[in-house]
Amino acid sequence: MCGIMAVKGVGAVNGVYEGLKNLEYRGYDSAGIAIKDCNGIKAFKSIGYISELEKTGVLDCSGGIAIGHTRWATHGGVTIENCHPHCSEDKKIWVVHNGIIENHKLLRSDVLAGVVFYGETDTEVIPKLIEQYYTGDVWQAFRSAIDKLNGSYAIVMMCEYDDKVYFARKSSPLVIGKGNGFVVSSDVNGLIDCSEKCVIEDNTLGYIDNNLHIYDKNTNKININWIAMDERSIEADKGGNEHFMIKEINEIPRALQSTYNSFLKSEVVLPDNISNVLLVGCGTSYHSCLMGKSYIERVAGIKSECVIASEFIYSNYIVREGTVGIFVSQSGETADTLSAIHKAKELGIYCIAITNVRESSITRICDSVLYIDVGVEVCVASTKAYTSQVLMLMLLSDVIARNLKCEGTCKEDVLGCNCGNCLEIRANEYNDLFNLDIKSYLSKVRGVSEEIVKKDKLHLIGKAVDYITALEGALKIKEVSYIFTDAYPSGELKHGTLSLIEEGSIVIAIATQGGILLDKSKNAIHEICARGGKCIIISQFPEEEFNEVIWCNDGKRCVKRGEYIPLPNLNSLLMPIVSIIPIDLIAYTVSVMKGYNPDKPRNLAKSVTVE
Ligand code: G6P
Repeated sequence: MCGIMAVKGVGAVNGVYEGLKNLEYRGYDSAGIAIKDCNGIKAFKSIGYISELEKTGVLDCSGGIAIGHTRWATHGGVTIENCHPHCSEDKKIWVVHNGIIENHKLLRSDVLAGVVFYGETDTEVIPKLIEQYYTGDVWQAFRSAIDKLNGSYAIVMMCEYDDKVYFARKSSPLVIGKGNGFVVSSDVNGLIDCSEKCVIEDNTLGYIDNNLHIYDKNTNKININWIAMDERSIEADKGGNEHFMIKEINEIPRALQSTYNSFLKSEVVLPDNISNVLLVGCGTSYHSCLMGKSYIERVAGIKSECVIASEFIYSNYIVREGTVGIFVSQSGETADTLSAIHKAKELGIYCIAITNVRESSITRICDSVLYIDVGVEVCVASTKAYTSQVLMLMLLSDVIARNLKCEGTCKEDVLGCNCGNCLEIRANEYNDLFNLDIKSYLSKVRGVSEEIVKKDKLHLIGKAVDYITALEGALKIKEVSYIFTDAYPSGELKHGTLSLIEEGSIVIAIATQGGILLDKSKNAIHEICARGGKCIIISQFPEEEFNEVIWCNDGKRCVKRGEYIPLPNLNSLLMPIVSIIPIDLIAYTVSVMKGYNPDKPRNLAKSVTVE
């Protein structure tokens, strides 16, 4: 949610521009760069993707310091006036900001009464405050301004009075890299050509001259911990694919293998006597939580509950003894999830994080961390992170089960256990997962996408874990294709949604559960087909299994009202990981067919760092 960049050193302008391109998934409604050279500071701004900035001529300029921003609007519309960097009235002080200044209205009418503002953003108060407090000492003015701010912020500032870059962080991520010069960025993806990085701690501020200086709020100096850059964190290119989304879907098998390896290396610490598991996340990560609940209840046999992070923060959650919290976040920076963790900690809950991003905020506040290690996920719609979160939660359910029931007898054996309590998955079954053939879905997916693209609404149904897959599939399709899509448990159709089914309606039915659940799923499919709807069935059971429910008499003749997308027949515990893949592919294909950019859906951002 908004990306900020600053470079102090050779090639500053190009460095900020390239860094912003790597941060574009954080927001992409407008962008701007301010450059400092010996004549002062000038700014370039544009509406739309970062590439629009090139047309302003910004790349023809040079300077020793540049700061930049890619925006996801929170306060004020998408206009040039609201686009960052923002400046003081005398245009000598320039700021980029990610977060929300909650008291900006009060500041405008109080400390800044009489000051002329050109836009509506909360950010604009920051350079104006610094200007107000400046009496010859920039560092003093910067600190005084930061003291006045309530809310969340990652701020970078430069000015005409010196050659320093000032920064401050509270509840919004910020990282600094060192290479030929210094780079400041919202996340490691902006740290191009850096050999080392330093993650800025929360509630700190500082500046860069020829060195990095960081202080806490009481101006106590903080030791700087440079860490060597991890190659994987900067591999954000499309690798010959048209979009990140398809690249990331294709990477699912490799990502699953990497998650599995990460699990084997991890040392998750669990408290004794767990009796209840609370799972919390947002968006796709919340759907992983739902899947985690089903694994924990099935494998470990203990009560679990899922709460959406933004709801948990303001709920009257009643803690029971023995509750463990699992917080799932791909980015590790989602503000709602971080606030939920703070609340859980206040309630005395032991917190485990499942994340993809090392050194992200979630890793610093949880008691134990599991990394899914899927490499950078750039597309706003999460795909490879979801399947790996689900795998990690499945493996964690096994750890919980062993902790509770196996009394140490089978702790070393992670590839199948004989105690009757834990996961019963053999090594070759995991290998099937790591060798999934994503391309095999493509021709079927293309065919059904050609039908879906003509529709303005779409339904997904499933029973038990297939309902969770339906929820995640519906989110994916609506996010990138803008088709109204919703998901229901199959058995609920007849309690309302069936009234929406008419000749030509399309329903995606996920049917991976056998036995009585398969019979019930077939009933629901028949209810749809009998009313003129068409079902796209995603299942590992043979197509013939569904013939009796998809062939219907339309009054004149028998017509087929179903399409079938086959899944590999894996261990039932692994089916939720594979059943989402064709739906991800449908979402992608429909989005591209409609001429949209699936990587950057309108109004959304990948890393939502505001509540
Ligand atoms: C945003 C993204 C979603 C993501 C959600 C949670 O809304 O657009 O794709 O699922 O945030 O993100 P997290 O990083 O916490 O998993």
